[in-house]
Amino acid sequence: MPIQIEHLTHTYLPGSPFSATAIHDITLTIEDGEFIGVLGHTGSGKTTLVQHLNGLLKPTEGRVVVDGTDITQKGVSLLNIRKQVGLVFQYPEYQLFEETVAKDVAFGPKNMGLTKEEIDERVRWAIAQVGLDYAAVAASSPFELSGGQMRRVAIAGVLAMRPKTLILDEPTAGLDPRGRRAILDMIRRLHAENSMTVIMVSHNMDDIATLATRLVVMGKGELRMTGTPREVFKHRDELRAIGLGVPQGAELCHRLRALGFAIPEGLYLLPEVLDAILTLAGKAAPSGASEPVAAMLAQALAMPGPDALEGAAAPPDAGDAQPDGASPAAERGRA
Ligand SMILES: Nc1ncnc2c1ncn2[C@@H]1O[C@H](COP(=O)(O)OP(=O)(O)O)[C@@H](O)[C@H]1O
Ligand SMILES: [Mg+2]
Repeated sequence: MPIQIEHLTHTYLPGSPFSATAIHDITLTIEDGEFIGVLGHTGSGKTTLVQHLNGLLKPTEGRVVVDGTDITQKGVSLLNIRKQVGLVFQYPEYQLFEETVAKDVAFGPKNMGLTKEEIDERVRWAIAQVGLDYAAVAASSPFELSGGQMRRVAIAGVLAMRPKTLILDEPTAGLDPRGRRAILDMIRRLHAENSMTVIMVSHNMDDIATLATRLVVMGKGELRMTGTPREVFKHRDELRAIGLGVPQGAELCHRLRALGFAIPEGLYLLPEVLDAILTLAGKAAPSGASEPVAAMLAQALAMPGPDALEGAAAPPDAGDAQPDGASPAAERGRA
């Protein structure tokens, strides 16, 4: 069920003095089973783009074809689109409204005219998929739960429609490091175990670097780049020009190359970056002494540049907190 986006343009409030073209002439095909990371600075058009994929917004120009159906045509049932493409809004927990978790998750399937048994089965399935214990939460008010749990319930409500494609708009926004990691693990599992297509909007490179199979980079309403993370992260300077960083590993490699170290291009995952550094240092000091590594890293960390590496200076067991170690400062830099 590919999603074809063809010459998509959206202008808000057309014809008024406040008219604003949020996305311009976007053409892109998303294939079954992809995990797309949509990246871009705030205001670059990410939300506008993804809200077209389930018919929530109508294009000013262009069209969106889902599984062969032009969903932007008049008369297409939104309910049918939403059975195929589920959209989780940013801060979806604000949309919870039923008295109990089970009722909230059941809302979508109920509108689909399923039997009581089918609805119940889907609700149990969706709640399990988001890592919550049905027996413990089903009868609770969603408003008694923690922020992270409320977000899971909201995601379960979309999953209960059994969409083939799941879109998540900034799913980790506002969560603490633990909640954030839990949501990312959950999304990774949903993609891997249900052969779902996932489209995740984020402005956090480190979140997306290890999850996405392909990145879509937006800048000022235009599609600037698309490719595997490895391809995209090679363009560090172009990314910086549109207000984005690269993951910590890629930034570290960039700095080491700038210092004259022969670190190969295209690395961005921390384990592979560490391997490359150790290989180089091993050549400098075959005994395996750690001084050359320490000296190299100290020099690279002292270089002026984006805040992308702040988390990298953390002690080893902050490894856990590491994607988030970059967060407050780096986030501000990128948001
Ligand atoms: N409802 C709206 N009415 C008018 N302008 C909007 C509306 N929503 C978004 N915009 C404008 O469209 C542009 C893109 O916004 P958005 O798609 O929300 O970007 P992102 O999700 O990347 O932050 C921004 O300039 C924003 O101000
Ligand atoms: Mg947005």
